[in-house]
Amino acid sequence: MTDKDQQIHPTSQADDHTKHDEETAVLHSKEARKKKRMKCLLYIAIFAVFQTAIILLFALTVMKIRTPKFRVQSATFDTFNFSSNTNPSFNMSMNIEVGVKNTNFGHIEVGVKNTNFGHYKFRNSTINFLYDGLIVGEAFVPEARARARSTKKFNIFVNLSLGNVPQLGSDLDSGILSLKSKSTLNGKVELFKVLKKKKSTEMDCILAINLRQQLIGDLRCK
Ligand SMILES: *[C@@H]1O[C@H](CO)[C@@H](O)[C@H](O)[C@H]1NC(C)=O
Ligand SMILES: *[C@@H]1O[C@H](CO)[C@@H](O)[C@H](O)[C@H]1NC(C)=O
Ligand SMILES: *[C@@H]1O[C@H](CO)[C@@H](O)[C@H](O)[C@H]1NC(C)=O
Ligand SMILES: *[C@@H]1O[C@H](CO)[C@@H](O)[C@H](O)[C@H]1NC(C)=O
Repeated sequence: MTDKDQQIHPTSQADDHTKHDEETAVLHSKEARKKKRMKCLLYIAIFAVFQTAIILLFALTVMKIRTPKFRVQSATFDTFNFSSNTNPSFNMSMNIEVGVKNTNFGHIEVGVKNTNFGHYKFRNSTINFLYDGLIVGEAFVPEARARARSTKKFNIFVNLSLGNVPQLGSDLDSGILSLKSKSTLNGKVELFKVLKKKKSTEMDCILAINLRQQLIGDLRCK
């Protein structure tokens, strides 16, 4: 043994004790730091879950782009002529109110579920009116935009006329003339000026015209 060793030895046990204490302290602070880190990670995880939930909710409601609805909402007649005699025919001028619905479609209980939060910009189009597959009138739909969460309504005049169709006579005699209105709107739903999605929407309505009362008796749209 050297002098050096002897000098160190007597204190080494005490050193061991303090070392042990220090080690416990270090271990304790290490554990505390670990706990702190775990807590931090937990907060981050909770925040991430919360944020994901918010983003998901946002994606499923505000960011979701739905198909607007295009419908005939009402119709009135300015002139109304029909004859079911030898040469059955009709000539009418009709004023229709159409709607491009860019909002919740009657599902009040779910609110935002069916609402577009962006406007719908649609191009020029036409609405065809048909009797038994034959076009009896054509209405021009001018390009426009339906604002977010609202219905764009406008009026269109259209002349309807038909003659020389054998079965028309019995329909006119029955007092109910059933016409279909069909159309396709092409356009884009734009959200926050960045998100744009092409959307086309179809009109497919049945207008049952009450010939005696000269009004629409029944109006149904798909
Ligand atoms: C069509 O009916 C209108 C009134 O609704 C009448 O003034 C007009 O003379 C009629 N036209 C024909 C061609 O019968
Ligand atoms: C409808 O108009 C056509 C052509 O203008 C005419 O021949 C027909 O008589 C008219 N029908 C009625 C009921 O006014
Ligand atoms: C849409 O219709 C309007 C009115 O007729 C016309 O001025 C415009 O050029 C049309 N737009 C397109 C893209 O055809
Ligand atoms: C409907 O017919 C009348 C008379 O023929 C005409 O003056 C009018 O411009 C027509 N309206 C449309 C929308 O075609």
